[in-house]
Amino acid sequence: RKKTTINTLQSLYKKQEPITMITAHDFPSAHVADAAGMDMILVGDSLAMVALGMEDTSEVLLEEMILHCRSVARASKGAFTIGDLPMGSYEIAPEQALESAIRVVKEGRVQGIKLEGGMEMAPTIERIVRAGIPVVGHVGLTPQRQNTLGGFRVQGKTTLGALKVLEDAVAVQEAGAFAVVLEAVPAEVASLITQKLRIPTIGIGAGNGCSGQVLVQVDMSGNFPPGRFLPKFVKQYGDVWGESIKAIQNYKSEVKSRAYPAPEHTYPMPPEELIEFDK
Ligand code: KIV
Ligand code: NA
Repeated sequence: RKKTTINTLQSLYKKQEPITMITAHDFPSAHVADAAGMDMILVGDSLAMVALGMEDTSEVLLEEMILHCRSVARASKGAFTIGDLPMGSYEIAPEQALESAIRVVKEGRVQGIKLEGGMEMAPTIERIVRAGIPVVGHVGLTPQRQNTLGGFRVQGKTTLGALKVLEDAVAVQEAGAFAVVLEAVPAEVASLITQKLRIPTIGIGAGNGCSGQVLVQVDMSGNFPPGRFLPKFVKQYGDVWGESIKAIQNYKSEVKSRAYPAPEHTYPMPPEELIEFDK
């Protein structure tokens, strides 16, 4: 598979062909996403929850993001791969953000970075882009700011709110981001914003009028125990948890009953050698 570049993504956008993006957090989850032909892989800071078992994304460290980026990058042969800047690694100043972005690209081996925020992040995005690192913006619901937003709430539901999301998306575009994630905004708002921008919008909980879509891989593949809460926008395309637990339970019961390992999984010893050994 040929490596997807920023030019490939541009031409998909020009053709109005939806851009496909999915998260990955390690070598196997990136390997399968790349083999399935995803245009983009995101090492999202959602790995704090789905790969590290943390409460929310605020806990994950830059060093941890870099480690996960490194393992994802080794499997991302075709997909254009982006790493999230985690909370605390970019808000202080553009120089701090640039330093973190350089580490994620240089040590994490990904092609670009994503950071959350709109107008207030414009100088930061500009600084990173000027250094030659592609940036994806992220506006609407920005999970790193859940404590300010009052939880995971849909953004832009009022005229004023929608204007704010639009202003943020435009600011991110003017700062030089090559794409912007729109998270949890009404479909009508996301569509209008997409029409007003000249960079692709990647929607998550933002309807089908965006230039592309992104989902968290463990959510869409059903790799979680039954009964877990899922946001409205997630479609579960598989039952990876169900397949895994069936396989592991079968393994367990075959070990307990000695059905496994069977002769075909076992190395035999030549009988004459065995006679000698048994003496
Ligand atoms: O961290 C993440 O997985 C993300 C996507 C949901 C956009 O930022
Ligand atoms: Na994220």
